[in-house]
Amino acid sequence: MRATQIILVLFWFLCVYAPACFCTNVTYDHRALVIDGKRRVLVSGSIHYPRSTPEMWPDLIQKSKDGGLDVIETYVFWNLHEPVRGQYNFEGRGDLVQFVKAVAAAGLYVHLRIGPYACAEWNYGGFPLWLHFIPGIQFRTNNEPFKAEMKRFTAKIVDMMKQENLYATQGGPIILSQIENEYGNVEVHYGSGAKPYVNWAASMATSLDTGVPWVMCQQADAPDPIINTCNGFYCDQFTPNSNAKPKMWTENWTGWFLSFGGAVPYRPVEDLAFSVARFYQRGGTFQNYYMYHGGTNFGRTTGGPFISTSYDYDAPIDEYGIIRQPKWGHLKDLHKAIKLCEEALIATDPTITSLGPNIEAAVYKTESVCAAFLANTATSDSKVTFNGNSYNLPAWSVSILPDCKNVVLNTAKINSASMISSFTAESLKEKVDSLDGSSSGWSWISEPIGISKDDSFSKSGLLEQINTTADRSDYLWYSLSLDVEDNSGAQTVLHIESLGHALHAFINGKLAGSKTGNAKVNVDIPITLVAGKNTIDLLSLTVGLQNYGEFYDTRGAGITGPVILKGLKNGTNLDLSSQQWTYQVGLKGEDLGPSSGSSGQWNSQSSLPTNQPLTWYKTNFAAPSGSNPVAIDFTGMGKGEAWVNGQSIGRYWPTYVSPNSGCTDSCNYRGPYTSSKCLKNCGKPSQTLYHVPRSWLQPDSNTLVLFEESGGDPTKISFATKQIESVCSHVSDSHPPPVDMWKSDTESGREAGPVLSLECPYPNQVISSIKFASFGTPHGTCGNFNHGQCRSNKALSIVQKACIGSSSCSIGLNTNTFGDPCQGVKKSLAVEAACT
Ligand code: GAL
Repeated sequence: MRATQIILVLFWFLCVYAPACFCTNVTYDHRALVIDGKRRVLVSGSIHYPRSTPEMWPDLIQKSKDGGLDVIETYVFWNLHEPVRGQYNFEGRGDLVQFVKAVAAAGLYVHLRIGPYACAEWNYGGFPLWLHFIPGIQFRTNNEPFKAEMKRFTAKIVDMMKQENLYATQGGPIILSQIENEYGNVEVHYGSGAKPYVNWAASMATSLDTGVPWVMCQQADAPDPIINTCNGFYCDQFTPNSNAKPKMWTENWTGWFLSFGGAVPYRPVEDLAFSVARFYQRGGTFQNYYMYHGGTNFGRTTGGPFISTSYDYDAPIDEYGIIRQPKWGHLKDLHKAIKLCEEALIATDPTITSLGPNIEAAVYKTESVCAAFLANTATSDSKVTFNGNSYNLPAWSVSILPDCKNVVLNTAKINSASMISSFTAESLKEKVDSLDGSSSGWSWISEPIGISKDDSFSKSGLLEQINTTADRSDYLWYSLSLDVEDNSGAQTVLHIESLGHALHAFINGKLAGSKTGNAKVNVDIPITLVAGKNTIDLLSLTVGLQNYGEFYDTRGAGITGPVILKGLKNGTNLDLSSQQWTYQVGLKGEDLGPSSGSSGQWNSQSSLPTNQPLTWYKTNFAAPSGSNPVAIDFTGMGKGEAWVNGQSIGRYWPTYVSPNSGCTDSCNYRGPYTSSKCLKNCGKPSQTLYHVPRSWLQPDSNTLVLFEESGGDPTKISFATKQIESVCSHVSDSHPPPVDMWKSDTESGREAGPVLSLECPYPNQVISSIKFASFGTPHGTCGNFNHGQCRSNKALSIVQKACIGSSSCSIGLNTNTFGDPCQGVKKSLAVEAACT
């Protein structure tokens, strides 16, 4: 071989084999995912990239990493990426590649749930509406047109990831992918088409050769090599369908989603931590929080109907990107505790024994390691003996013993800090630039009532809405004009039957009545008709398309009738259903573009119309100063959609109030959780605050445009900025020492006692004051601590000395430091601090 040939061969070797050095090999066995030959215990959390902004991603991912996550999970949202068939969008919040790279940059793994059916409280479950119009298509069954499209999009995403070297096998972060989503929950309804579809989806996915395992969630019959995984509030009882597959949990719901008209769900962290610990106790090795950061349903992306714009989900990171305490911190401690057991967890299966009624021990033991989990699944506390030692086990809790002897954490004992955050109202008006001489600072355009666009059309009979609008807009006008003989004195009622989701009825240009509902909506609206020509203009609207359930894609909306005029003067009823109706898809303003603030027709000279239905409003404003997250408080408005600098911040609906009952301020975490167990905010508007990402705002000049449907007063709109007022912690002298300080006494002795730690939420902050400190028998909660009868008079100065000026501080609960103000009494240390 000549020298050049040798060089060429060497070069070839380098090219082919060198990248392999960076590759990660991902497989699985019955215990765990196996990464580069090693079984791993992994903690994962969902962050859906379009529910925040690219500017927020790095911080959200870093907070996830700090919280102890190894993996970030996201769905892929087909209708975001392919709004028109063959026309792709991967920009901005849809920049999936950038998101995956941001996770990689933080050193975390990705679980990419391609679906492409997502559910996810996302419009139409993630499917593009155009899919519905493909001739002969049937979704999620053994149907050729559907399968062709599903394969095309799945392959497109896989190829895109491959081109960017994002699979673990290529050195990227993606270690796992999902095909379909919870099909097993609805499979029975799809008859003989179901099973072939599942098998097809599995082999289609496998054929795409990603090099990493695929999962199907809630799919007991997932064919090999696809791993079937569990979703739910608890998955400890789950077993995969083959002993060759690991026990994985793809959705542990950290709270629940909010609906317009509903109360706000929350899930106590004691219960969430209990569910997680139970899962690892009973052989699980991969668990994902759904959601770890829920975020915001911007634009018209919410599913539904009636899913709110906020998708906060009571997640460990709140809608605005701020850690939620004590949830985030307690789970962080839990993850550390579980990781202390990793070597034992991956070494063997657990041996599970009963230590009494509702008391269960699981021991992972080999010659070299031993970890144990002790669970009390009853709703009362218990004392148990395990390995000759005695342990207090609070109700509905798990104690984790990384050395089978010492408890590092109990899921019901929160050692982490809590926090008070609040919204500060700022008036929008003060920020308003004088707009073309408008004294209110607002200008407006009235949206015409009834038909106003050139592309309207007439048809006899009532049309189903989604088939008519193809979801290009929430709105569909149904208009009719009708000659009536003298009807004076008659008690006429307009009877409308609709499939939802909301409608406004205008008679002769005036709003006569409105109705909200889903699936089967009947309304009787008293009306007055004049002799001669009358116009009936019905504005029907969708509020997020259905995203879940069998055949959810064929659920209709709109006024499908009958529509009947009842009680005319001559005593008759008149069925209008099969009349010649005129239809208009969308609003005139949607075509003209006021949402971007650009239409030339804004009025500002005469006085501002308030409580007028169908009105567009616009103002200019300066952003609230500082860097705290910003929301707009829409109190005073009815229902509509809002745009900031042309970006839709979503549908607002502050007049939709939650039921008066069903809420509880202090929800008992003991016992099984359900989505309706812990609710707050009863009798109040479901959502008044709407997130405006900071990156959408300019310091001085911003445009806010609203379309108001039912009537409101825009001068009542204000800003709210969210800040952390206090960080608190309350630790008792019987608490285990912090997880960080845990040492097995078989190793080095164990002298550490309980420690109280405080940490400012933002990296650039320091503790600036101690609002409260008490060692003894303090009581109350963050923001409301009080001294008890027993108190050390040194507490405040000790805490001030240890904390002020630092971004975090730790203080041991030690009577050598504090003195003992009441011997023999159980004591605790409570601190409330401010960070600036
Ligand atoms: C699951 C579904 C998720 C989400 C969740 C509720 O059934 O897989 O996508 O919809 O329910 O938040």
